[in-house]
Amino acid sequence: MALTILAGTPNEPLAHGICRALGVTPCARTIERFPDSELHVEIDQGVRGRDVYLVEPMSAPVDEHVMELVFLTDACRRAGAARVTAVMPYFGYARQDRRASGREAIGARSTANLLEAAGVERVVTLDLHAAAIEGFFQIPVEHLTAARLLAEAVSVTADSVLVAPDLGALKLAERYQAHLRVPVAVIHKSRITGSDVLLRALIGNVKDRAPIIVDDMIATGGTIEAAVKGVLDAGCKRDVTVVATHLVLAGAALARLQALHLRQVVGANTVAPAHALPDRFRIVDVAPLIASAIERLHSGQTLERLLAHV
Ligand code: R5P
Repeated sequence: MALTILAGTPNEPLAHGICRALGVTPCARTIERFPDSELHVEIDQGVRGRDVYLVEPMSAPVDEHVMELVFLTDACRRAGAARVTAVMPYFGYARQDRRASGREAIGARSTANLLEAAGVERVVTLDLHAAAIEGFFQIPVEHLTAARLLAEAVSVTADSVLVAPDLGALKLAERYQAHLRVPVAVIHKSRITGSDVLLRALIGNVKDRAPIIVDDMIATGGTIEAAVKGVLDAGCKRDVTVVATHLVLAGAALARLQALHLRQVVGANTVAPAHALPDRFRIVDVAPLIASAIERLHSGQTLERLLAHV
């Protein structure tokens, strides 16, 4: 069974990087919009009997990219692909993993159902907002982590302290701690609106220390803004680093981060940036990591240390 990499439109540089690392050419395809805005996709070369990896991070506009993935999967199935794996380095709707009030949809679950109905047989993703999302799928989910790669890009000093900006990020902070070997502090935060959060308490010692705030993603920047204010109020050094896998950077997030005068922002290239990023952003290429996972899955090898739960 031969390998095919098929890329959607959200992050073609990442998809091409994955292809380069694997030494393959991306499968030719046409993705277009009809005048009435309907999506039309067509695969321009044969995929019959092939092991297809569809690279489609679910960045904005999220729904368009979800439909692109659904249509490309359907096209592969109908063209006789032997197996279709959805490679979603950034899984959109991940934060809709539960009902916070009575009458909401669980968006992550609905998206999982939709992808399975379309014919996706396996998922590869990276640093999910919540590991439990794996359970929303009936199919195998390979949950990779970029923590080791991002940790390698961080400058650690004797006074560094890792900070989880909310309780949900604590497990992630522990993952970084395994690489960086520095203490961990955690913030108790509550979300007020989609872009504003309230800091309720800080557990751990950050006084006179250089914080490294770690999170799965930065969307509006509200969480990071509140966390930076929190650690500064608690007497940390004015030497704050932020590490987040998915730099979604919605709306005014970039300006919001710039105003915080951070030492460095370290993130992965899972989401293609809408604008050029300032020098203090260090972007880590996760294409080799994803390519290695694809290579191992294709040849039936274990993913071992690439997985988030190891
Ligand atoms: C929340 O639990 C997530 O881990 C992130 O902290 C949050 O979603 C980031 O969003 P924003 O940048 O809009 O605060």
